[in-house]
Amino acid sequence: MTSSPHVHAPTFEHHLHPLGIGEPAPRLSWAVTADLPGWRQQAYEIELSDGTTTGRVESGESLLVPWPGAELGSRERRGARVRVYGADGSAGDWSPWSHVEAGLLRPSDWQAGAAAPPLDLLGVPDGPALLLRRDFAVRAPVERARLYVTAHGTYEVELNGRVVGDDVLAPGWSSYHHRLRYRTHDVTDLLRAGGNTIGATLADGWYRGRLGFMGGKTDIYGDRTALIAQLEITYADGTTDTVVTDGAWRCASGPVTAASLYDGERHDARLLPRGWSQPGFDDASWLPADVLRHDPPLLVAPTGPPVRRVETLSPVEVLTGPSGETILDFGQNVSGRLRIRVQGPAGHTVTLRHAEVLEGGALALRPLRHAAALDQYTLRGDAEPEEWEPRFTMHGFRYAQVDDWPGELDPADVQAVVCHTDMRPIGTFDCSDPLLNRLHDNVRWSMRGNFVDLPTDCPQRDERLGWTGDIQVFAPAAAFLYDCTGPLTSWLADLSAEQAELGTVPPYVPWVSLMSSAAPAAAWGDAAVIVPWVLYQRSGDLGLLRTQYPSMTAWVDEVAGLTGGNHLWDEGFQFGDWLDPAAPPDKPGKARTDHALVATAYHAWTARIVADTAALLGHDADAARYAELAEAVGAAFRREFVTPSGRLACDTQTAYALALCLDLLDGPEQRERAGRRLVELVAADDHRIGTGFVGTPLICDALCLVGAYDTAYALLTQRNCPSWLYPVTMGATTIWERWDSMLPDGTVNPGEMTSFNHYALGAVADFLHRTVAGLAPAAPGYRELLVRPCPGGGLSRASATLETPFGRAEAGWERAGGRLELRVVVPPNATATVYLPAEPARPIAVGSGEHVFTCAFRDPADEERPS
Ligand code: BGC
Repeated sequence: MTSSPHVHAPTFEHHLHPLGIGEPAPRLSWAVTADLPGWRQQAYEIELSDGTTTGRVESGESLLVPWPGAELGSRERRGARVRVYGADGSAGDWSPWSHVEAGLLRPSDWQAGAAAPPLDLLGVPDGPALLLRRDFAVRAPVERARLYVTAHGTYEVELNGRVVGDDVLAPGWSSYHHRLRYRTHDVTDLLRAGGNTIGATLADGWYRGRLGFMGGKTDIYGDRTALIAQLEITYADGTTDTVVTDGAWRCASGPVTAASLYDGERHDARLLPRGWSQPGFDDASWLPADVLRHDPPLLVAPTGPPVRRVETLSPVEVLTGPSGETILDFGQNVSGRLRIRVQGPAGHTVTLRHAEVLEGGALALRPLRHAAALDQYTLRGDAEPEEWEPRFTMHGFRYAQVDDWPGELDPADVQAVVCHTDMRPIGTFDCSDPLLNRLHDNVRWSMRGNFVDLPTDCPQRDERLGWTGDIQVFAPAAAFLYDCTGPLTSWLADLSAEQAELGTVPPYVPWVSLMSSAAPAAAWGDAAVIVPWVLYQRSGDLGLLRTQYPSMTAWVDEVAGLTGGNHLWDEGFQFGDWLDPAAPPDKPGKARTDHALVATAYHAWTARIVADTAALLGHDADAARYAELAEAVGAAFRREFVTPSGRLACDTQTAYALALCLDLLDGPEQRERAGRRLVELVAADDHRIGTGFVGTPLICDALCLVGAYDTAYALLTQRNCPSWLYPVTMGATTIWERWDSMLPDGTVNPGEMTSFNHYALGAVADFLHRTVAGLAPAAPGYRELLVRPCPGGGLSRASATLETPFGRAEAGWERAGGRLELRVVVPPNATATVYLPAEPARPIAVGSGEHVFTCAFRDPADEERPS
């Protein structure tokens, strides 16, 4: 018996909205819904709207399948649909059509110059945002209109008084001297017959504004901001008009008198030239824009979604600070800004300050270092309430202090607007322990707070840089929580470009020379290898590995060169096991684990990944060479750091976690001895965490690898400081940078690294997904699932769900009265290997559909627990 599989509309590359894409031959993916269990695709057929059809192709592939037709030309739009045939003989109907449209694919498509406000208007960096405008005519009925736009600086565009799109801080931050992303907007509906006006507000943003710690730098990419815009109008009669940024644009200052990513925004509403972006406005007093040269080959289409306003939060409490100040608590630490609704006399100024935590009841501003995070709105004095939200800044905050509010403050008039990369949430986790659930929520919020276009370290202080080490350790958790392959593909392109320029992988990307040099550092530079590898495992995108391969090999070759003949990376600068809880507050790099041990372990790991990548890509000679290198580094590691019986020269949680997880030990005896020692060490620390950035993602896995599940759970559920749950007991709503960013007495750690929103230590979420709930990839893209939950810690249930490229997967267990029930959902065209938590461990192979298993199970934690 057969039933029809239902195919969802295909997707293109990793795009959510494939308008203005940069890939002329976008790969296609589709998911299938099928009622029958064990459904496998036998064949597919793709049809394109230009009549191209593949005919029936005997293949089980449904993920990133090559584009079957002629390449798209610039601006070209095409539809695609798919139908599939099951191995069981089932045949589905055609999927709905999906449409894709290319952007401007060739540099020569760009006619736009860079319209720059004249020097007379330009302020100091982080000064006023400037207005640019131009009138134009629409001379016939319009069939379609596209705006291709980007800037040197950050911009907001308007057409006839309406804001175009909903991007925040466009064009985001990339390594602008290598890649500048433009956006494509469908503006057909914003045009009207006759006179029209296009306008833009332009701020300094990352291009020219202050960036970085220790005072930072300005004018990093240039000292002139500019708009690059090309509006292409296609009329119903087939003729076209193009309006570009050129000398016909006129400029003036506007209401934004200062805009800084770190310091905040000042807006004087009295200075808004009413109707400035609409036809009929008199711009005679405005100054003509300068037209500057720009480099069209640098302009690229985005590979992921932009930053948007994703959610708004209302205050949960109104507090009064020690000096009588009004402080709003939004109940959640976020990245974003406030939106206010205010009425009062013209010229009156409201001041808004932001902080992540309170200290002594007042805003704790020290963690912000040199970021003022202060917004000011000066009222126009309208008869109606005025609404305002800053547009060219971003803050990391939970609390906001509102000063000089005219009249009584109604908390409903202030909202927190949460802004971040608008990624699709795909993974969930839930269990019976509310503290672990809150920890998981905190990880998700820290990902949201730090995916502000690029993966950053923190959203609040004078930093917000794309620190490579942070995303390296967090990538597996990130790839489960959100579909972040598109955004990280862009960031990796920057990494490759910076690496090619600098001859090494800098510690943060985009690189800004705030430090004396971009010195290579283990675990940070290793992001060049590990992030693409993790994305390949999770998304199945082999093309990404192919693209990153030169960067991956260059990194491993560079490190091999640094180690000299003995394969030990024991010289030069290292961050090491950054923020080891035993490191003094003012010396975050002073970890207990030897830097050379960390660096050499990572070298062995990334050499092995590159060997595996080479094999996948068919570079056989490379595969053999890197496998040999990985072996040699592993042997050097053992010689230098491991005693024959399996103890490590460095007796720390991180050292054992690295040796065990990265398979650096020789045989079961060494592993068994190392495992026992790790258990002893964790017990000697009273089951409190003893790892920094490097050991934290590995420690629980290391314990489970040696069968010490109870120790892993004791660590995971520990509430005393340092531990994952200590911040939760302190009311944290995001992951902190330090285990003790806030001390038990409620004061902020006296050290410098005291962000309350850093995702690195939240890497443990990956363990919650893979091991506590038991949902892991066994083959790239989750074509095969590994469902192997390790119940423990007194939990009575845990579950995870994931929208895999094949459809929804689930793993969840629940136990009562000595029995455990495991429920597994496998999407069509995928398979799973299931292990029940029972001895002896036996693999059970299942196909798509829902499966329920039961077994006897006792949690040792139950016995220890007083009833
Ligand atoms: C950042 C980190 C980063 C580190 C490098 C810090 O200032 O916030 O998260 O990885 O420097 O050690």
